[in-house]
Amino acid sequence: MKKLVINGGVPLFGRVRVSGSKNAALPIIFSSLALRGISRIKGLADIGDVRVALDLIGCYGAKVKREGRDTLIDTTTLKYVSPPPELTSMLRASTYLMGASLIRFGRAELVNHGGCNFSARPIDMHLDALASHGAVIAGDVISGGRLVPSVVRFKKRSVGATVNALISAAGIEGESVIEGCALEPHIFVLVDYLRSAGASISFVGDRATVRGGELSGAEVSIPGDMIEAGSYVAASIASGGRVQVQGFDRSELSSFIEALGASGVSFEDGEDVVAYGKPARRFSVCAAPYPGFPTDLQPVVAPLMSFAGGCLKDEVWRERFGYLDGLGAFGLRSRALGDMREVFPSELHPARAYAPDLRGGFAMLLAALMADGESEIYNADVILRGYENITEKLSGLGAEISLCEM
Ligand code: UD1
Repeated sequence: MKKLVINGGVPLFGRVRVSGSKNAALPIIFSSLALRGISRIKGLADIGDVRVALDLIGCYGAKVKREGRDTLIDTTTLKYVSPPPELTSMLRASTYLMGASLIRFGRAELVNHGGCNFSARPIDMHLDALASHGAVIAGDVISGGRLVPSVVRFKKRSVGATVNALISAAGIEGESVIEGCALEPHIFVLVDYLRSAGASISFVGDRATVRGGELSGAEVSIPGDMIEAGSYVAASIASGGRVQVQGFDRSELSSFIEALGASGVSFEDGEDVVAYGKPARRFSVCAAPYPGFPTDLQPVVAPLMSFAGGCLKDEVWRERFGYLDGLGAFGLRSRALGDMREVFPSELHPARAYAPDLRGGFAMLLAALMADGESEIYNADVILRGYENITEKLSGLGAEISLCEM
């Protein structure tokens, strides 16, 4: 287990470039199994979740080679294996194995998926999408038989179910329709990849029409990570500094910038995001599917509410507030208010605390950057799942931070 040691109270200045999006990379790595040939993926971040995903597809015989900033995945020859639970349980995105395996091998298994443990994370909509194509689900086994194109109607927005529906529709001969798709930017990176592999996919609003068939080698560029970008913007504000965050599409952070702008934080105009000033007013966020406020940034703004107070609600994961207990160790005061959490203006102090999950862990890191003195965050491995070179990037901005083995 690793720990981060942070000497807080130091304002951050300078420039930081975000890495390739984690949430775009994982669907592409898993869907590469549905293709026969070589995929070239540009800009894959070297983070824990990507390494686990590459190890997982390696179990099926995929050959992975790094060529500078590109990653080549050769899926010409694969063999079916049962998804190894010790790896699938590390990643929620391992559920994408179901769609990809069904297309490639005509069979799949229910995946013992894991990832951040902040709520029950159902997969009924994933299975409904596969069943609509004719897959038969009996116990843990999903059998393909003869897969057919179909019409899938989702009752709510789900990134994961949309990914599985797109992968399976792209690999089945004929025209499928998927209604109620999630519209997160990373969904459209997957669409680019599947198009490059030979599928024809068009969108009208949240309705996708997919003309699928044999999928072959493809190429795709992973864009900058909007969640990592929002995390560094939050770090800049938390520290009272002024950091320029680069390498991503600013429009993807509109709801985040709007919420912080309402609190009194100032943002420079331009392609990059430069935020300065502290939240002078109480502000609220309500996480919702894109283009709403991203659920992954909901924990990240909580420490910023220590300045003037605020209110948190999450319509994607209604109970995603467990991390607030850990922030309590740093002095952040909060209370439940129905399905919301109220955060009170609080003086933060250094603490020793255990990172509960990826974004909750980053929220603790922010609290540690804000508190004068030395803090320690245990189980930092979960933060490394999603943030490439985090200690190097933060040190480059002036933070006093180190990562050590415990
Ligand atoms: C969600 C987020 C994603 C974020 C990720 C990790 C949304 C829409 N999705 O993606 O941005 O990066 O968490 O924090 O913001 N659901 C069902 N049945 C299913 C699948 C999902 O009821 O079969 C529900 C979930 O309980 C949840 C909602 O749909 O309330 C969204 O889930 P989904 O988008 O699938 O989760 P992730 O793909 O993990």
